[in-house]
Amino acid sequence: MPLRLAVPKEIFPGERRVALDPSIAQRFSNMGVEVLVEKGAGEGAHFIDATYADNARLVDDAKTLYAEADVVFKVQPPTLEELDLMREGSVLVGFLKPHLHSDMVQKLCDKKITSFAMELVPRISRAQSMDALSSQASIAGYKVALMAAELASFFFPMLTTAAGTIRPAKVVVVGAGVAGLQAIATCKRLGAQVEAYDIRAAAKEQVESLGARLIDTGVSAEGVGGYARELTAEEKQTQAKVLAKHVAAASAVITTASLPGREAPKIITKDMVEAMKPGAVIVDLAAETGGNCEVTRPGETYEYENVTIHGPVNIPSLIPIHATEMYAKNLYNFLSPMIKEGQLQLDWEDEVIKESVLTCDGEIKHEPTGRRLRGAS
Ligand code: NAI
Repeated sequence: MPLRLAVPKEIFPGERRVALDPSIAQRFSNMGVEVLVEKGAGEGAHFIDATYADNARLVDDAKTLYAEADVVFKVQPPTLEELDLMREGSVLVGFLKPHLHSDMVQKLCDKKITSFAMELVPRISRAQSMDALSSQASIAGYKVALMAAELASFFFPMLTTAAGTIRPAKVVVVGAGVAGLQAIATCKRLGAQVEAYDIRAAAKEQVESLGARLIDTGVSAEGVGGYARELTAEEKQTQAKVLAKHVAAASAVITTASLPGREAPKIITKDMVEAMKPGAVIVDLAAETGGNCEVTRPGETYEYENVTIHGPVNIPSLIPIHATEMYAKNLYNFLSPMIKEGQLQLDWEDEVIKESVLTCDGEIKHEPTGRRLRGAS
């Protein structure tokens, strides 16, 4: 029997992406995999059922789909009800956010599901094409720049008009990781003057290569795996003092700073917002994980002391076609090397497989999640 790869419709509120687009369905089908897609699964991303029909079997409902699946591709972590529908011993691949879903992790173990979390794929050169965190972050970075331009009461570019010359807007981007760099590039294309801030020393070169200026606060906090570490109280104070001046002069502030698996660091304080120009905007890409700004309300847009505060959530879903295509490509690059002669063959010596597995054979394989759950029980 060929391997059955199943793709359900995402049920998370507002989620428009789907884990497979028709062109990747074709690639799997060409490998001898039987692809099953729940009817309507691609609708949110404008992939209608007919576009899958040549390379996938369309299944009426989630229950039937899960009952037949050897491997399930998801975008959002499965709910406990979705997990109830999954077959014991099957394989799940998707963003799983294990730090937020202890019950899900427990149930994955109970059902002996082999689960791979896309956020755990190691950031090594060979795995770049599987790096779904980066593909979705670059989409989010682009979109938050557009949101900032839309919500600010100022033009971004310099304009010379009969009614006078308008100076380009100053934009401050906090966090120059994948999303931040894309936000910088997009704001530059819109004509803004961009300053950026990050605590990783490596960010300087990347920021400057995009034509932006790095704000130097004298705080450097490179952590494990190229990520940032949490700052000490003293470092936070130094950072805030320098940043406050730049934020006060900005027409828009875009914040994208996060710490893996943790609540986002609070960087823009209430006092800094109060010192901002009337009509300025803060777009907080980190809203979903608590926000980089003290007054962000996740999922809301409101005015605080004449400054618009925007806390968008699930931003990649707002560009659903490209977000789906890029994510599906990441999943293909992740899973296809494990398929030999139409069957799944997991090589546990492979660094990518070893590091991205969350649960297998009823056990938690991801050490930090295991420690956290043991601590909780
Ligand atoms: P992220 O989404 O975890 O964080 C975003 C940015 O916020 C990071 O640049 C981080 O340094 C910064 N940040 C955290 N706390 C901060 C604070 N208190 N103040 C200011 N900035 C703060 O990180 P992301 O974007 O997922 O990746 C981080 C870096 O990892 C990338 O910039 C890149 O250098 C590296 N990377 C390497 C890859 C590879 O080699 N395959 C792929 C993707 C990223």
